[in-house]
Amino acid sequence: MLISAPTDFRKAARRKLPPFLFHYIDGGAYAEHTMRRNQADLSQVALRQRILRNVSGLDTSATVLGQKFSFPAALGPVGLTGMYARRGEVQAARAAARKGIPFTLSTVSVCPIEEVQSKSPAPIWFQLYVLKDRGFMRNVLERARDAGVTTLVFTVDMPTPGARYRDVHSGMSGPYAAARRIAQAVLHPEWAWDVGLRGTPHDLGNISTYRGHPTKLEDYIGWLARISIRRSAGRIWNGSGLSGKDQC
Ligand SMILES: Cc1cc2nc3c(=O)[nH]c(=O)nc-3n(C[C@H](O)[C@H](O)[C@H](O)COP(=O)(O)O)c2cc1C
Repeated sequence: MLISAPTDFRKAARRKLPPFLFHYIDGGAYAEHTMRRNQADLSQVALRQRILRNVSGLDTSATVLGQKFSFPAALGPVGLTGMYARRGEVQAARAAARKGIPFTLSTVSVCPIEEVQSKSPAPIWFQLYVLKDRGFMRNVLERARDAGVTTLVFTVDMPTPGARYRDVHSGMSGPYAAARRIAQAVLHPEWAWDVGLRGTPHDLGNISTYRGHPTKLEDYIGWLARISIRRSAGRIWNGSGLSGKDQC
């Protein structure tokens, strides 16, 4: 598919990805009111065009958190990026380094910190969820430091994780989720070959290293729910049954 505008990426993702992944990226929490409001608010922001200026020496570089970048923007943390593209976190970190902007690795990435940092030519940023499991916090911080990470990004919205209703319908969670995901993968052979088969392992690299065994998608949803600071009032399907816990 031809990409000529940023909006084409959504269409391309819808075509390429199994629905459980597309809806995970495309959706928001609860009835998605906040997501829609954010979109509406952002569409009100306009770039101010200045004319009749000398543009021969344009410089978009900026210093952010003591580091000089080519542009004042960063790739934000996106969990499970390695499910959307083969070893996706590594690809994204390399792309960001090529463009001279920071890449932020999610706590819940597919590729572990060590893999991403060792394959990226620039220092990555690391996003840390503030979670109840202090052993995990210490472990992941030490590993980030040892890998060469110097910038931490704290995400503090986990005390009340949002229930993502779409996930139950899409197969990310809900009844027979694993079987539905397999069926969707079969119907998306390009993804199945490129990411499903050649992009393994598909566990959550940072968490698996800490727990000492692979943490799969289903385990992750339950694990994250258990160690979030406070349980959400929402009830969603956690892969094995309805519970009062949910995911980020
Ligand atoms: C699919 C998806 C996964 C995300 N995963 C994380 C995450 O693991 N950690 C985090 O701090 N933020 C996560 N976010 C939040 C984004 O980093 C970002 O803050 C948010 O999407 C707002 O930016 P946007 O308006 O450009 O989407 C995620 C967002 C999406 C859409």
